[in-house]
Amino acid sequence: MLLTDEAPMATRADPAFRADVLAGLRLPQKAIPARWFYDRRGSELFEEITALPEYYPTRAETAILHTICPELVGAVGEGVAVVEFGSGSSVKTPIVLNCIEPAAYVPIDISGDFLRSSSATLAKQFPGLPVLPVEADFMKPVPLPAEVADMPKLGFFPGSTIGNMEPQAATTLLAAMRDWLGEGALLLIGIDRIKDTAVLTAAYDDAAGVTAAFNLNLLERINRELNGNVPIDAFVHEARWNDDAARIEMHLKAVRDIRFTIDGHDLSMTAGETIHTENSHKYSDRDARLLLRAGGWTPRQQWCGTDGAFCVILAEARPLPIAP
Ligand code: AVI
Repeated sequence: MLLTDEAPMATRADPAFRADVLAGLRLPQKAIPARWFYDRRGSELFEEITALPEYYPTRAETAILHTICPELVGAVGEGVAVVEFGSGSSVKTPIVLNCIEPAAYVPIDISGDFLRSSSATLAKQFPGLPVLPVEADFMKPVPLPAEVADMPKLGFFPGSTIGNMEPQAATTLLAAMRDWLGEGALLLIGIDRIKDTAVLTAAYDDAAGVTAAFNLNLLERINRELNGNVPIDAFVHEARWNDDAARIEMHLKAVRDIRFTIDGHDLSMTAGETIHTENSHKYSDRDARLLLRAGGWTPRQQWCGTDGAFCVILAEARPLPIAP
């Protein structure tokens, strides 16, 4: 996850954060993009979420990655460059690198600071491995380092992060990954499954209140960085299953009528009104494969653990088919 330095004063605020918050709070359904969760405190809270008893995805995916190693090595082969979309997870990335023993590791992330620190940690952990970080927005085409030009590529996109995107944005992202990696490349991706609603809502509204704190931290960040006076105690965390869209939605619900200012702008909310802060789409077996195909990837193998709660899929960028 992105980890950015906290900005203690409004003058250091990210202008994109300010623009997203002010525009989002003027929409009929108020909404703030989920990427703003991940300041330092938000990233720490997300780490805590991944260890919660109710939050199954991280445990499920880690267990799958451990067990599939022999099959993965067989499918992927030797001498590959592992290209990770995001700075890498301190747990999952080493599992894959230990298993594949790649010829190079290329993490791509827009957040330079976090990319550099996680790359340095991995380089220490894997002394013989060329670690070649690329600071870029992976929605935009940037050439991969010349060192990996002739290596077969394995893209890695774990965590069901794809689920945080609307299906259309997810498809665009998958197509961008195909452009980065090229025809013939493989992609190892984690995708969460539709399951019992009670299990899903508990995963996003845990008994210890860590997910609530993660959601509410967005308001604290607004107050810290955007000179806001949002009354945090007037909000409660809500996690809802939206069956039509097959997703968990996180909202911040006002429990009373409130007025506040952000960077000098007057804003108000009525009791019961919400700020939509995150979507986490879940996919059925066929939906997941269709999503990958729509992004130009042909699923080759999938592993869904013992309970089928979460799947890791290996897909291939085959030549795009000519429609009959
Ligand atoms: C990062 N992402 C895949 C998490 C998810 O499950 O959608 C973020 C998260 N939000 C609340 N809990 C976890």
